[in-house]
Formats: sequence, structure tokens, C-alpha cells
Amino acid sequence: MCGIIGRVGTDEAIDSLLTGLENLEYRGYDSAGVAIQNGAGIKVQKRSGKVDELKSALEDTTTLEGEVGIGHTRWSTHGPPTDENAHPHTDSTRDVAVVHNGIIENYGDLKGQLEAAGHEFTSDTDTEVIPHLMQRYLDAGFDSERAFRAAIDQLEGSYAVAAMVAGEHVLYAARQGSPLVVGLDDDGFFLASDVPAFLEYTDDVVYLEDGDVVVVEPDRITFTDATGDRIDRTPETVEWDPEQAGKGAYDHYMHKEIHEQPTALTQALEGRVNSERGEISLESVPAAAFEGVDRVQFIACGTSYHASLYGSIAMNRVGIPTSAHLANEYGTSAPPADDRTLVIAVTQSGETADTLSAMRHAREQGARLLTVTNVVGSTATRRADDVLLIRAGPEIGVAATKTFSSQAAMLVLLARRLASDFEGASSMSTTRETGGGREDLETLIDDLQGLPRAMQSILESDAAERLAEQYLDARSYFFIGRGLGYPVALEGALKFKEITYEHAEGFAAGELKHGPLALVTSETPVVAVFTGDADGKVCNNAEEAQTRGAPLIAVCPANHRATEIADAHLEIPAIHPALAGLLANVQLQLLSYQAAAKLGRPIDKPRNLAKSVTVE
Ligand code: M6R
Repeated sequence: MCGIIGRVGTDEAIDSLLTGLENLEYRGYDSAGVAIQNGAGIKVQKRSGKVDELKSALEDTTTLEGEVGIGHTRWSTHGPPTDENAHPHTDSTRDVAVVHNGIIENYGDLKGQLEAAGHEFTSDTDTEVIPHLMQRYLDAGFDSERAFRAAIDQLEGSYAVAAMVAGEHVLYAARQGSPLVVGLDDDGFFLASDVPAFLEYTDDVVYLEDGDVVVVEPDRITFTDATGDRIDRTPETVEWDPEQAGKGAYDHYMHKEIHEQPTALTQALEGRVNSERGEISLESVPAAAFEGVDRVQFIACGTSYHASLYGSIAMNRVGIPTSAHLANEYGTSAPPADDRTLVIAVTQSGETADTLSAMRHAREQGARLLTVTNVVGSTATRRADDVLLIRAGPEIGVAATKTFSSQAAMLVLLARRLASDFEGASSMSTTRETGGGREDLETLIDDLQGLPRAMQSILESDAAERLAEQYLDARSYFFIGRGLGYPVALEGALKFKEITYEHAEGFAAGELKHGPLALVTSETPVVAVFTGDADGKVCNNAEEAQTRGAPLIAVCPANHRATEIADAHLEIPAIHPALAGLLANVQLQLLSYQAAAKLGRPIDKPRNLAKSVTVE
């Protein structure tokens, strides 16, 4: 939700700012802008639309010479995506320029006070109060750092903010509730919402904490807390490389990331499953780590919620009482939690405001907190007691793909790992269907190791592309499944509508007949996901739709009985039932991607969306 970038160094800032904005565009693409500081004051260029439009406006970047600058790519919250509402925002005298990610909840009051004192505003944004507040304090004789601190002291809400004052080789930045990371290279420093912004330049980073304020000069950076006391922040080296964060030979990040799944899973599983010993070990969840806990609650949003539903079914199947909750509903309708509850926050970015807020709620109830995330150093990792990294590598496409697979696979592992901490859990059924017992664990471990190869075989098939073409004119698409097939159906529908802009819905297969069947016609293909959970009943439900004219697409192994009735087939290799949904999901990802590509949609940047949703 909005990307910010800042540069202070001994080299020209504009190129690295524009690169940073392009790399951050997944966080929002309603408008983009930069402000550069040199001897002649602060120069600002900003445009509604994507970073490319800003670049076209900057025909000659030499007009923006200077070694200190800030940039912003916006996902609108307050005010439409116009040139005026684009960041950076300045005060009336253009002595102060500011970029901001987050929401200033008391901006209405602040704006009223400033207007009453004669300040004139030029945008509808909440952000514009910040440069005006700084101007007020500068006019009162404060030095720039004090003016910055005094301004942010007035703010309620969430922010990552970077500011500069004309005539200074300095950036001021602060973080409260929205992510901000510092990059250190030989020529200076970067500030950014996320590491990929500057990964081409450096992989040495410092993640800021809430309350941190930094003063950045070309040769030094000072970290302080909100009261101005110095604090230590130790740089760490991130393991992502710029090539991983780029598009490579693919037309879209989404396509690249779908194809990266075998590698992402191999990384996720490395050192965590041992087929010789038949063991699962998770470095951050040692044996007995959660002894005493008697139930699990998942909290997450969107795709991560679907992975959580998958995980909750896997947990219940090994005897761990588990429920999955939309994080944005958790504060109002959560079941009771206490110190015997393990709350697992599943979040790719680790920055989703709804999920962070639900974590806070869980903490207030006294629950233990574990986060399953992709981003080292993210806010969720700092709020949780324990962290399980999915190690999927950077995911840039707004549509989550490889991270769903890695999350769901990790949750299947976690279920098996936690079972031994839960009294009575591991002694549950040993049948293949219910997913417990020693023999079944060995099969699961073997199949986990074969999972990347099985996925690769799907990626090499063009069946999804052909089907996407065949059903491109459909009016609506329904996805159905039971058991572990249900979250996969939900995820399939989310992905389809998100990037094709066509209507798609996911249902528990048994629910079709309780209402949605009324919508089924020959123009509504039904995609049925078969994972080995009550497949016979899924067949019945699929046939009920087919009888009413719906074309039936079965996602299942070859020779499955569903292939005898289906109009079309997306094949998945036979595998342990706990993993079949992950393979089916890859076919659904490809179906969505191919349909969106044929419809000419902006696949990596679907309208109105952003990768990281840092507002509630
Ligand atoms: O970063 P998170 O996993 O917390 O994000 C949650 C959702 O916003 C996210 O999964 C979203 O639904 C997907 N990008 C959709 O493809």
C-alpha cells in the first residue's frame, strides 16, 4: 500500500529513485512522484498513473540533479489518483517535501488547525498535513530535526514517512505501523518500504521498528527512539538477489512466480524433512515448543486465509482442535483465546494491517503467537513469539502464487510437527484419508520430496492454456471442492476474478445445491477440484451442475472416475491426499493466468489492488 523510497549519497539520486519506484510499484500504481534537492532548492515532479508516466514526464532527468531525494508510488486512500494528490507533498513555501505510506487518522483536525492559521492546502490527502506541520515548527524557530519530530508527534494513525528540507543534505524518516527499511551501500543510504526497492544496489539492510526516527546524511545515519535517545540497529544481509526480484524472460511476474514454485518448495523444505529418519523438524518450532497449548487459531487475509483454511484442515486431521479466521473479522467475532491458545498469523508480506491488528487482539487475550511469513524482518515477525519462514523468495506479482504453495506446504508440515505436542493428537487414526500415523507420515515425507517434481510436470503442460481459450466467453466461473479441495476452490476463484476481472466464485461442493445452483447455466463452467476428500460426493455435486448445462472441468489425476464424466480435464499427478490440493492449485493458477493474458489484462497490477495492504 504505497511505496516510498529515499536516497542520500554522494552520487546523483534520480536513477536509483526511479529504479526504486519501479521495484515498488507492486505496492500501488495510482500515481508516482519524486522530489530532489540541490543548491537551488527542492524540485518536485509527480503524475497520476504508473511510474512509466512519471518517467515520460521527466524527459530530461538532468533537470532533477541532486544527491538527496525521495519518491513515492501511491495506492489511493484519501483523494482520487490525480496529479495533485500524488506524493511528494510540500508546504506552501516548497521548503519541505514529504512522502508517506499509511493513514493519518487525525488529519482532519490537524488540517483544520493549520488552515485556521493560514496554511493553504493543494491536495485531498492526509499526508499534506505533515509538510505544513513541519513548516509551522520551522517558522517557530525549530531546527529541521526538531521540526520533523514535533510534526510526527502530532500524528495519530500509521506512517512510514520520509522528509527533506531545502538546502540540507539530509533525510528525516520515521516509522509507526508501516514498514520502513534502510539500505547501506558504499555511496550512501537508501530508505524504502521494502528491500526489493534497492536490491540492485545493496543487500545490507536495517529494518526499522515502530517508534524509530532516523536522520540520514551521506556518510552517517543516526537511529533514535521517539524521545530522541540514540539506539543501536544492527545491519543484516538479506539473501534475496536482484535477479530473483526481476522478471527474467517472463512477460509477467505472476507467470515467473508460478514457474518458480518447484524451486520455492525445494527451498522451503530444505533441512525440514528427513526421509531417512522419517522426521519433520522445523528450526523455529522445536519439540514440545507448544506443550500446554490446547487449540490453534489461524488469522490471515485473502490468499493467506485460504492457505490457513488448508492448514486448519490438516491440523484438525491430526487431532489438533483448530479454526481459521479472517483477520479483519477476528477482533469482532473471534472465539475465546487465552494462554493455552496458539494463534498462527499467516502473511506473505508480514505487513498486512488487518493481520497485524488481529495479532494485537490475540496478544491482548494472552495467546501465544506464531507467524508464518515470507519476509524476514517484517512487522509480523517482530510481533510474534515465534517465526516460521516459508522461504519462497520475493513475490512481486500482486496475485499471490508461489507463496500460497509454500504456506500451505509449511502448514501441512507444521500440523505433523505440532501433533506430538498435543495430548492425544498423534495417536489419531492411521488411515491415509485422515492423515495420521507413522506409515502415513513416511508416505507424506516421500511425497513432499517429490512435490517440486510433480509441480514441474504440471508447469510443462499446456492444458490450462487450451481450456482458458475454450471457455474465454463464459459468463461466470464456479470452483468447487470438498475437504482440502475447498480452500483450493476458494483460492482458484479469487485468483481468477482478481486478474481476469471476470466473475468467479468458490464454493464447498456440497453448498451448490443450497442456492448457487440457481446461477448455473451452459455459460458457467464449473471447475471441480478432486483431492481425495469425498471425491464421490464431489462427482455427484459436479454432475448436478453439469445436468443443468454447466460445462464441467475436472482437476484430478489421470484415470480418476471424474474424467469419465467431465467435459474437460486438468491433470495432476497422483500424490498423498494432503498435497493433492497444492497440485490442483497450480493448474488453477495457470488457468487464471492464461485467461487474463488472452483478455489482455494488466496481470501484475490488477486495478484497485496492491500487493501489501497496510490499511484496515
Ligand atoms: O501479505 P499477506 O499474505 O498478508 O496478504 C494478504 C492478502 O492481501 C493477499 O493474500 C491477497 O489476497 C493476494 N495478493 C491475492 O492474490
